[in-house]
Amino acid sequence: MERHEFLTHLHRLVRPRNYLEIGVQKGKSLALSHVPSIGVDPEFVINRALRCDLHLVRSTSDDFFTHRDPIRHLRSGRNPLRNLARGRPMFDHYRGGTRLDLAFVDGMHLFEFALRDFMNVERFADWWSVIVFDDVLPRNVDEAARERHTTDWTGDVYKLIPTLARHRPELLAIQVDTQPTGLLVILGADPANHVLRDYYEAIVAEAGLDDPQPVPSWVLNRDAAVSPEALIASPLWADLVGGRRWRRGRDAGRRQLQARLEAIGLSPALPVAIDA
Ligand SMILES: C[S@@+](CC[C@H](N)C(=O)[O-])C[C@H]1O[C@@H](n2cnc3c(N)ncnc32)[C@H](O)[C@@H]1O
Repeated sequence: MERHEFLTHLHRLVRPRNYLEIGVQKGKSLALSHVPSIGVDPEFVINRALRCDLHLVRSTSDDFFTHRDPIRHLRSGRNPLRNLARGRPMFDHYRGGTRLDLAFVDGMHLFEFALRDFMNVERFADWWSVIVFDDVLPRNVDEAARERHTTDWTGDVYKLIPTLARHRPELLAIQVDTQPTGLLVILGADPANHVLRDYYEAIVAEAGLDDPQPVPSWVLNRDAAVSPEALIASPLWADLVGGRRWRRGRDAGRRQLQARLEAIGLSPALPVAIDA
């Protein structure tokens, strides 16, 4: 299955009430959104119709997240009727505030940028948020180079997978076998968790930033990737939407999602070392 087809299913299944996209380019993935959205890209060149209430930001994601309240455009206010008129959830202001329902990160394809994007997106997320990274399963060493020299380029974003497995094992990080270069769907976000922030410098220093990147065989062979069809067919999306609606607790919600993922063969033992 091609990545945009999978994303189309995701918008249908997650029924997001808001959407954040990092890396917009021509707007192909942003065009899938029909809900209040933010798109961030220093060089977008949108060439198609968009059908969402959109705040489009011409900047890098790092700069975007330095704003005082970057997701303000998506926030529900105090007045439920005004929220209704603006297409925001009516009562979220009184139910813990607005959190991101769906985010797609497809910006700068270098590990440290992707890691910062995850850390920043997680600040505005909750366990039911669906955070998707593109280009985590390069097909060869050339595609994974930090210095781009191929048409299709993933860079070394794949290093996010072992990094999360090692430092944030409680996250549900699902590698998805989409074409051309795989997706990573992350569930169970916790804005109160500061581990990545605390160890950021050490994690990046350890990652190895010289080309050629020794891409592990489990990445190239997609050993731990689930079938996109199986993931789409899983009842986990209904659980996730229900948990979000009723603001189910993190532990109960996460346990339910984990059980659904085990049912479709998500490998619990992911590699932990970046060059394993
Ligand atoms: C692969 S394209 C995005 C494609 C789009 N998501 C789609 O599927 O149609 C990557 C985009 O990321 C943008 N980009 C590069 N560095 C970025 C950064 N630091 N922050 C946000 N976007 C960035 C580029 O300008 C480029 O338009």
